[in-house]
Amino acid sequence: MKEQKVLSVSAIENGTVIDHIPAMNLFKVISILNLDTITKNRMTFGTNFRSQQLGQKAIIKISGKFFEDIEIDKIALVAPNAKLNIIKDYEVVEKRAVNVPDKIIAIAKCMNPKCITNHQQVTTRFTVINDNKKVNLKCNYCEKITDQEHLEIVK
Ligand code: CTP
Ligand code: ZN
Repeated sequence: MKEQKVLSVSAIENGTVIDHIPAMNLFKVISILNLDTITKNRMTFGTNFRSQQLGQKAIIKISGKFFEDIEIDKIALVAPNAKLNIIKDYEVVEKRAVNVPDKIIAIAKCMNPKCITNHQQVTTRFTVINDNKKVNLKCNYCEKITDQEHLEIVK
């Protein structure tokens, strides 16, 4: 109990905390949200914290930034259990889950080596097939399925 009360990463005053990210997917979330291009906001990334739900979890804290739902929902691909906490004056004023979008454009890579998107400058487009809590992506070009284990982010 005692360990849980100790903040390993300090609290923020205003901004967004993305919690309950699977530890192995921290960098995918950073990439999907383009956090690598943010230059002014204070950010902290922590990983391999203990989580009852996930085993090991990662956390992202960004001061002074509030995301649109549509931006955040993209991370459902790699962090379906992520919780978004909106912080104002040190208080969590809103907490929300992420929803898997119906369509994914320009984020994921098609796992079919023969797909046109892997040979020409074509924006990838997928229809999301949600079955048994796993997210599978059906390519709009070659119709092949890219499953969650093979999901790679295009950058
Ligand atoms: N947090 C923060 N700065 C604050 C308030 C909260 O960085 N001023 C972080 C906490 O460290 C935590 C997350 O925001 O990682 C959510 O805070 P809170 O809802 O208080 O924690 P829990 O109840 O543990 O959340 P959950 O049930 O979603 O795990
Ligand atoms: Zn394809």
